[in-house]
Amino acid sequence: MMNLAIFGFGTVGSGVWEIITNNPEHLKNKTAQSLNVKYILDIREFPDHPAASIITKKADDIFNDTDVNIIVETIGGTGIAYELSKRALLSKRHVVTSNKELVAAHGPELFDIANRNKVCYLYEACVGGGIPIIKSMKESLEANKIESIEGILNGTTNYILGQMFSNKISFADALKAAQKNGYAEANPAADIEGYDSVRKLAILSSLAFNKFIDYRKIPTEGIQNITLDNLEKAFESGAKIKLIATSKMQGDKLIASVRPTLINESHPLYNVEDVNNAIVLNCNNVGQVMFYGPGAGKLPTASAVVGDIVDIAKTMIA
Ligand code: HSE
Repeated sequence: MMNLAIFGFGTVGSGVWEIITNNPEHLKNKTAQSLNVKYILDIREFPDHPAASIITKKADDIFNDTDVNIIVETIGGTGIAYELSKRALLSKRHVVTSNKELVAAHGPELFDIANRNKVCYLYEACVGGGIPIIKSMKESLEANKIESIEGILNGTTNYILGQMFSNKISFADALKAAQKNGYAEANPAADIEGYDSVRKLAILSSLAFNKFIDYRKIPTEGIQNITLDNLEKAFESGAKIKLIATSKMQGDKLIASVRPTLINESHPLYNVEDVNNAIVLNCNNVGQVMFYGPGAGKLPTASAVVGDIVDIAKTMIA
């Protein structure tokens, strides 16, 4: 049996618990052992939740239990999540994370600690929600040099722009709906102002160009000033406005940005609607490939987390 602990019982953390609890046989067939969520760490109370008996506020309860091999970090942010992730890796636990802010800001340090302690720090859920982009870049595309990246990397903003245009609703109402659906960040300014997209772009670019790309150096503009009038005028001219993230290397220099962009019908990202994300990679051997799917939300993001857990569990003897 593989025991794990989930740190943070919000949208993604509860989704991870749900997938593991609802699919025991399927997951056992994949990993040749049962996955057991032994603890959930959260400072909030969940008295009526079926997992209430395993929820603790004390991280020490978990760190003192040597049967726990995998920590799932879905707390978010760079505060306590950073401290707990470091502690988990230093205590030789594998860590699976959906925390893109942490990976974008402290990835190199955390990967290094993981390497030195011979454990994994996996982050598929950090980019593209349920889209399997990280593993594809790390493994399936290894024969290629990635020349450029272009994508819609934030589900909330794509959803807001679509809702405003299709249903003629205000920015504020579209945002409320995105929050209700569990798409937006705890502080949705990160979505709207483009910071969530740029962190994801930096994570993908670091992987593609094999060096740490600091998201703080990438010019970033959000969708906060886009009006329904802008969307309608764009449509009249045969285009849509999307929050587009791009990056490529020119010699030693990274050319990258996140900004609302007019794209026309012939563009591969034109039909990416709703909460979906898509990532277009231009590669030297395969040519252009596009990854598409739900970019946010409880089960899509938790699906990516559980995929990483299964990968680790497969390599560990029961
Ligand atoms: N708030 C993020 C988004 C969640 O809307 O894309 C998934 O990373």
